[in-house]
Amino acid sequence: MKDEGGRVPQHVAIIMDGNGRWAKKRMMPRTYGHAQGSRTVERICEDAYRLGVRYLTVYAFSTENWKRPPEEIETLMDLLRDYMKDCIKTSKKNNMRVRIIGDISRLDADLQESIRALEEASRNNTGLNFQVALNYGGRDELLRAAKRLAGQCLRGELTAGALADMQEKDFENYLDTRGIPEPELLIRTSGEMRLSNFMPWQLAYAELYFTDVLWPDFNKKELQKAIDYYNKRDRRFGGI
Ligand code: IPE
Ligand code: IPE
Ligand code: MG
Repeated sequence: MKDEGGRVPQHVAIIMDGNGRWAKKRMMPRTYGHAQGSRTVERICEDAYRLGVRYLTVYAFSTENWKRPPEEIETLMDLLRDYMKDCIKTSKKNNMRVRIIGDISRLDADLQESIRALEEASRNNTGLNFQVALNYGGRDELLRAAKRLAGQCLRGELTAGALADMQEKDFENYLDTRGIPEPELLIRTSGEMRLSNFMPWQLAYAELYFTDVLWPDFNKKELQKAIDYYNKRDRRFGGI
C-alpha cells in the first residue's frame, strides 16, 4: 500500500469552497460566485484527467446546504440543471463517466431524471470517472447504508452468519461510492480546514491539502501544487 513517490493519486476529492467570498470581493451577489464556480468544475475535470487522475469527486451540495436562503438554493439547483444538460454532451466528448453520490430523492423530479439519464448515457465511458456529491452528507450516507443492511437482515436476505463475517470491504458495497477506490488526496479551497461531513469513511487515510485559493480561481496549476504536496508525504498507513 506504500506509495512509490512521483505518482499522481488515482482518486482526488475536492471540497469546492469559497464561491460566496469570491463574489463578495467583487461586490457581486453570491450566486455570481456559484456560476463562476460551475465553470471551474468543467475546466478542472479536463485538467485532472490530463494530469493522470482517474477518479475525481467534487462536493457540490451538502445535506446541510438546505439551511441556506431559498433564493440561493434555487440558483444552485438551476446551475445544476444546466450542468446536467451540458454534461451529457461533454461526457460524450471527453469519454467521461459521471456518477452522483448522495440522496437524490430530495431533489426535484426533473433533476433526478436528468441525473439518471446522464449516469446511464455515460456508464460505458472509459475516461475520467467523475463523481458529483449532491445532497450528500457522510453521516447520511452511513445511516442509509446501515438502514439498507438492517432491511436485508429483517427480510432474511442476509443471514446472521454472513453479518458476523462481514468485513470493511463488504460494508463498502452499501456506500454510495461502491466500486470506486477511496481518494488518496482531498483538496479544500478557501482556507477552511474541516471536512464538513464529506466522505468520512472514504477519506480515513487520505492526505488533506488546504489552500486559501477560492474555488472560482482554482486551476490546473493549483491542482498540480496539491499533487506535488501529496507526493512529498511519507505514508505509513498505521505502520512505522
Ligand atoms: C461553496 O461555496 C459552494 C457550495 C457550498 C454550494 P460557498 O457558497 O460555501 O462559498 P463561501 O464559503 O460562502 O465563500
Ligand atoms: C461544504 O461547504 C459543502 C460544499 C462545498 C458543497 P460549506 O461552505 O457548506 O461548509 P461549511 O458550512 O463552511 O462547513
Ligand atoms: Mg462555504
